[in-house]
Amino acid sequence: MSTNGTPMASPAPSTRLAVVIMAAGKGTRLKSARAKVLHEIGGKTLLGHVIAAASKLVSPTSIFVVVGHQAERVRAAFATSGVHFVEQTEQRGTGHAVQCAREAVAGFDNVMVLSGDAPLIRPETLRNVWQFHQEHKAAMTLVSAEPAHPTGYGRIIRKSGQSAEVTGIVEQKMLTPEQESIPEVNMGLYVFRTDPLLRYLSKLSTNNPHGEFYLTDMAHVLHQAGERVAAYIAPDAAELLGANTLKEMAELDAHLRKNTAEKLMAQGVTIYKPETCVIDTDVEVAADAVIEPYVQLLGTTKIGTASRIRSYTVIENCKLGEDVLVRQSCVLADSTVANGVRIGPFAHLRPGSELGPDVHIGNFVETKKAKVGRGSKANHLTYLGDAEVGEGSNIGAGVITCNYDGVRKHTTKIGNRSFVGSDSTLVAPVTIGDDAYVAAGSCITKDVEAGALALGRAQQVDKPGWVAERRAKDVSK
Ligand code: UD1
Ligand code: MG
Repeated sequence: MSTNGTPMASPAPSTRLAVVIMAAGKGTRLKSARAKVLHEIGGKTLLGHVIAAASKLVSPTSIFVVVGHQAERVRAAFATSGVHFVEQTEQRGTGHAVQCAREAVAGFDNVMVLSGDAPLIRPETLRNVWQFHQEHKAAMTLVSAEPAHPTGYGRIIRKSGQSAEVTGIVEQKMLTPEQESIPEVNMGLYVFRTDPLLRYLSKLSTNNPHGEFYLTDMAHVLHQAGERVAAYIAPDAAELLGANTLKEMAELDAHLRKNTAEKLMAQGVTIYKPETCVIDTDVEVAADAVIEPYVQLLGTTKIGTASRIRSYTVIENCKLGEDVLVRQSCVLADSTVANGVRIGPFAHLRPGSELGPDVHIGNFVETKKAKVGRGSKANHLTYLGDAEVGEGSNIGAGVITCNYDGVRKHTTKIGNRSFVGSDSTLVAPVTIGDDAYVAAGSCITKDVEAGALALGRAQQVDKPGWVAERRAKDVSK
């Protein structure tokens, strides 16, 4: 089964189709120390997008990622994905990348080849190309398109006449002046029948300006050998775009996020000024939620129905229930929030915060590893770290859990229906029982039993007439 629970086109273990993802290149034009396929768009690496799409077509165990540049980092990033890796220690071109995967794919009937740097590819397109390849009984199926700016792409060479058979692909640097005007380009996605692929792969040469083995030359080699080379014309060329520079990377990112926002809006989510929001690919938002301008929803964040996220809030890897209100300028990370919760403005939920139903977390409140029970409130200027708060309790303004003794972290427990007065410090480890009261301004260092009032502050002393006496003294000096 694929990750979304729908049956795969070819159930594992199948020998019908293997997928090779070429991801060994450096991406020199990015001028970045990070391997190209580990750059992110829509909050996910380029290679992560391609693996996710391919995993909808075949089992991850039929996916072979060709790694070379920063191989260890790429392997580590996908260690738990279930895909296999093939080493290409020296990057001698796309043809060489597939040569390195020879043994890996030998047991499969067909091989789909994808580029790890073309992340917009949709599973539906992979399925369509795979079906086209089978229907045309081709030795090689390539995907072509006519983008607005064909410069830089390999051009498709066809026979003149009605058959318009594909006879080859010519790379930009080898184009004759007449060929430069060919609008049809190679988008870098192919399916091969394994037999002819492996039989003719060794025929590739490095006789070109880069001195590389071009996989694209397989079109000519197979055509010459009398094998069928078919072209699937992509309805949407944008989907096959790659990124060679950081400018192009930003364009892909914008394209992807626009798609994500449009998908959510089609599902009933209101997004004001979607062009100002940053929404990662895997984010889920239920119908009737409202996302205001300049919101960021990142990672695996899920937002329930009828919740509202107000402007300038950033939410990463959080699960929010229904009818939650997150007011302006909040930061939420790795936390869960139950139905009906009110947060902010200017609140900070750090990792491990768990807010129960109808909890209120107000302005300038910070929580970390804090479990807060149903209906409890911390409305102003509070720090709850390593804390457990029961149900229906009130944490007054400026309360601080002193969870760190300089070496270790300790837990503060507050029971149900308790009241912690403003500006109290709770020195952990410490427990405040159910229905207990802590007087404002207390420094609590010992447990408070259920139902008790704890005062941990100096007693107030009043001196009537003191001010007048003092002023009189000052004048007489
Ligand atoms: C390739 C095609 C070109 C097509 C374009 C579409 C070739 C020779 N040309 O050019 O016809 O129009 O894609 O985007 O294939 N890689 C390796 N090992 C290598 C070299 C590359 O794994 O030795 C990987 C890269 O990491 C990348 C992919 O193969 O993910 C494509 O390589 P790239 O150098 O980007 O090819 P293009 O110049 O884009
Ligand atoms: Mg490329």
